[in-house]
Amino acid sequence: MDNTILIGKVPVKRTAALAPMAGVADRAYRLMCREYGAAYTVSEMVSAKGICYSDRKTAELCTVTDSERPMAVQLFGSEPEFMAKAVDIVLRYSPDVIDINMGCPVPKVVNTGAGSALMKDVGLAARITEAAVKAAGEVPVTVKIRSGWSGDSINAPEMAKALESAGAAAIAVHGRTRDQFYSGESDSGVIKAVKESVKVPVIGNGDVTDLESCLKMYRETGCDLVMIGRGSYGNPFVFKAIDAYFKGEEWVPPSVEERMQVMLRHVRLMLELSEKPEELAMHEARKHAAWYMNGYYGSAKFRGRCYQLSSYSEAQALAEEFIGLQRSRMGENS
Ligand SMILES: Cc1cc2nc3c(=O)[nH]c(=O)nc-3n(C[C@H](O)[C@H](O)[C@H](O)COP(=O)(O)O)c2cc1C
Repeated sequence: MDNTILIGKVPVKRTAALAPMAGVADRAYRLMCREYGAAYTVSEMVSAKGICYSDRKTAELCTVTDSERPMAVQLFGSEPEFMAKAVDIVLRYSPDVIDINMGCPVPKVVNTGAGSALMKDVGLAARITEAAVKAAGEVPVTVKIRSGWSGDSINAPEMAKALESAGAAAIAVHGRTRDQFYSGESDSGVIKAVKESVKVPVIGNGDVTDLESCLKMYRETGCDLVMIGRGSYGNPFVFKAIDAYFKGEEWVPPSVEERMQVMLRHVRLMLELSEKPEELAMHEARKHAAWYMNGYYGSAKFRGRCYQLSSYSEAQALAEEFIGLQRSRMGENS
């Protein structure tokens, strides 16, 4: 299996990429995942119209640090003119790639004609892409789509072809329809059909949570790169497992002690990168702390306690207690 793909001229390792996740995959999250071997990262989605009208949050959302590269900044919008202007603004932050969101299912986005609403208007989707490609110059433009709007209008292959003709340098496909939101299963058959209908790289996305499901996605769809979203919650290790496999190295899952150390580092990074006071920044870090405890004995109770955390020192104490519980449990079972 070839080890690297090209998005435009940008080389990306053919292991696994981190999916864009608004409200989750912020800079700290992306840095953690890159450090653990994510091949590629994407920013949280940014409103094209929003950044044309105001500077608020633009820098925070669009800044690309070297440790996150290769990284795409993702835009959503429904008007070609605003998309072109937004691309122009985003270029100041030197992203490696500009990605357009045509998959977001939330009413706030869809009701403006953006996100997955564009699955219903292939012509407009192509015009938006064309405008972005023209404005982006040398920087490749990619598009992230769903399988279709609803079960009776699956059109990802047709959509992908139109976007490729409009100049898209790669297509990411989440194998669910808009109507499904996140329910049911992601359909790898649609991703395979997209792969067979375009020449540009296809990024397969949906329900990949570990090495096994990653290899399944590669095998079943023939996609060029796999992208992981929710499977990386509290679990940057998933990228390490996949990276190790492709390097032919052995990978040993982290111990509970290591997990808690990484959790604390993630929390510290969030606090350092936040401009908010510790207590407020900690509110945003709570869910991440909780995710690192998934799958262990007594984790439901501890996750609940994570949602009460208001300082780093409390997180440290909770991690110690959690490790203690797992150790005593291991003692009981040995
Ligand atoms: C909390 C959350 C936020 C998301 N935000 C975005 C976003 O900003 N842009 C985007 O294209 N997709 C977004 N998605 C969709 C994911 O990128 C991905 O397509 C989806 O979660 C399916 O992949 P998974 O099964 O690996 O999670 C989001 C998903 C979640 C769960």
